[in-house]
Amino acid sequence: MKKIVICGGKSLSGQVQIHGAKNSLLPILAAVILSKGQCIINNCPPLSDVMTMLELLQCIGCKVEYGNQRVHIDTTNISNFKMNDCLMNKLRSSIFILGPLLARLNNAELGYPGGCDIGIRPIDLHLKGLRDLGVEVTEKEGHIICSCKHLIGNEVYLDYPSVGATENIMMAASLAQGATVIVNAAKEPEIIDLQDFINSMGGRISGAGSSRIVIHGVKELKGTTYTPMADRIVTGTYMIAAAATKGEIFIKNANIDHVSCLAGKLRESGCIINVEKDGILIKNKNRLSSSHIIETMPYPGFPTDLQSPMMSLQAVSKGTCIMVENVFENRFRLAGELKKMGADITIKDRMAVIKGVKQLHGANVFTHDLRGGAALIIAGLCAEGITVINDKGLIDRGYFEFEHQLKNLGGDVVVLEE
Ligand code: UD1
Repeated sequence: MKKIVICGGKSLSGQVQIHGAKNSLLPILAAVILSKGQCIINNCPPLSDVMTMLELLQCIGCKVEYGNQRVHIDTTNISNFKMNDCLMNKLRSSIFILGPLLARLNNAELGYPGGCDIGIRPIDLHLKGLRDLGVEVTEKEGHIICSCKHLIGNEVYLDYPSVGATENIMMAASLAQGATVIVNAAKEPEIIDLQDFINSMGGRISGAGSSRIVIHGVKELKGTTYTPMADRIVTGTYMIAAAATKGEIFIKNANIDHVSCLAGKLRESGCIINVEKDGILIKNKNRLSSSHIIETMPYPGFPTDLQSPMMSLQAVSKGTCIMVENVFENRFRLAGELKKMGADITIKDRMAVIKGVKQLHGANVFTHDLRGGAALIIAGLCAEGITVINDKGLIDRGYFEFEHQLKNLGGDVVVLEE
């Protein structure tokens, strides 16, 4: 297990470049299955989740060549619709294979997806959507067995605007007979990215970014070359790191529209955020005021993925913050680790009360999930003394060369292997 060791107290300053968005790349890599031919995806960092998705693609018969943040995928010979349980269990987003496999082969058999332990994470909405498109779904002995003669367009109403379910249904419906309308669809920017990617293969999707997405099924999709959006969660993480360490970071190719909710909170607390032609400059010199309330919601509300890094910032801010987690119930496990570092946090169900302290101190802490890991790094950067963060592997799921970037920004960060 790799550990990250941080000697806190240094302000971060300098420039970072944001890599392709993990949450765009994973559905896009699954959507290549819909095409017959060659796809090239640029701006594709070798995150461990991305590499697992590429293994899944190879498992079903894709030829994959990866190098230099670019992946070349040949989907001509896809034939296997039975997924490897072990690979499925490594990654929540493995479920994205389901919709495209059904669209391509009319069959799919897979185990339940794994991934970060941030809550129950059911897939009922994915399966309901596919049933609406004419798929017969059987759940048996830990496996999901799906088949159809062909997918048929339909109206699909989602009880909750699930990001993953919206994406899975969009992908399946792209090759269905007739039109599909997703009502109460998720509105995240990654959904627009997926729409643009599928349309670049010849798809006919409109409405992504709103709660009503219309997908006109086409007979076939062709290969394409595509560059996904910059990662808004990584962008937000650097913004919070600059704010917490009283630093100044220029975040190159970040899109302010994707982090406007966070930017609003940080400005209210006293940060200066300038939007420039090719990125965002964030600076802060003083101890910030706490945000009064932070409540996670589907986009464009405050993102659940930034709740953990924001908890670290609130732990050292002036005042009290009430945080409500509405999306994933286990995210607050981070609080226990921050308390080891001297944070004053009380949890009651889905609510956290964070009373800011002047100074955190270093401790030996454990990550439970990807974003919680990033949050502990931020806490370690502002703490007095040494913080040891176990297990770096979880952080590598979503941040490419994080420790290297932090060192470039002036952080005292090393990686230890045990
Ligand atoms: C995606 C993101 C994740 C982000 C989350 C919320 C990817 C790869 N991951 O995850 O980083 O934190 O959106 O913005 O894009 N739900 C159901 N039934 C379902 C599906 C979801 O009840 O079938 C519930 C979940 O338990 C959760 C909520 O809906 O409470 C949101 O989940 P969803 O939007 O589906 O998140 P993911 O797609 O898993």
